[in-house]
Amino acid sequence: MEIVTSVRDMKARSRAWRKQGLSVGLVPTMGFLHPGHGSLVERSVLENSRTVVSIFVNPTQFGPGEDLESYPRDRDRDAAYMKSLCANVLFMPEPGEMYPPGFATYVEAPELGLRLCGASRPGHFRGVCTVVLKLLNAASPDRAYFGLKDAQQFFILRRMARDLDLDTSMVPCETVREEDGLAMSSRNSYLTPEERAVAPLLRKGLLAAEAYFRDGGREALKACAVVSETLAAEPRFSLDYAEAVAACDLRPVSRVSSETLLACAARLGRARLIDNIIFDPSGPSRKGRGGRPCW
Ligand code: PAF
Repeated sequence: MEIVTSVRDMKARSRAWRKQGLSVGLVPTMGFLHPGHGSLVERSVLENSRTVVSIFVNPTQFGPGEDLESYPRDRDRDAAYMKSLCANVLFMPEPGEMYPPGFATYVEAPELGLRLCGASRPGHFRGVCTVVLKLLNAASPDRAYFGLKDAQQFFILRRMARDLDLDTSMVPCETVREEDGLAMSSRNSYLTPEERAVAPLLRKGLLAAEAYFRDGGREALKACAVVSETLAAEPRFSLDYAEAVAACDLRPVSRVSSETLLACAARLGRARLIDNIIFDPSGPSRKGRGGRPCW
């Protein structure tokens, strides 16, 4: 596995692969890698001739007072892990490489990026879209892989790819969970043992909302209340939002259906945990009319 730090070198590798007719997969990450990232890399290795994993703690997606400085980092462990999964290139640019002096152009996601996490993290999705477009431009992948724990992020990036006529296909991948249901996240490392013990309540709340739907409940407000009532049992949790939206465009819905995304974010100690559920009994591979995924 090769470590590449400049955009120029990354482009040269990708150009050389293309000349040989090889397909390329990209897994964008901010590092401190866990099996959730590992599952994206494994899928990319299966589906492409070459796999690039990027590690870049992107300053433009962090707001003032957020955890940019303290975001967990362990480059050596990450490199050993990615090598063991047969990634071909670890792309690890420095901030000055991605945002040289005078950098002034951003990709906005004004519609989808203001809802859900965007409401409490202004500018976050502008930073995400901008860096992902730059990473796609550097690696020129056929496919890019994203976890559905960050469902809003995935839907925004897929819209960006469509709106800007990008050649990369954006691939959604199932959330990977700990045995007790907690969605894997680099930020779980912020939790104290006591907080970690109660953290799966977020998932429990979402499963209770799903049970409400399965039992015939269709009121969006009620489905969201099921999540907030579950979390209310643990005073260390502070709910940021629980919202039911249409998975296709993230617009709020009043009635829940199989294509509703119920997304939530909650603070627990130093961590801000996010998770979601799509009320689709057969999961993201379900096909709609015309053989295309419904969302
Ligand atoms: O999901 C993440 O880790 C980041 O938001 C991403 C997509 C790597 C962009 O910095």
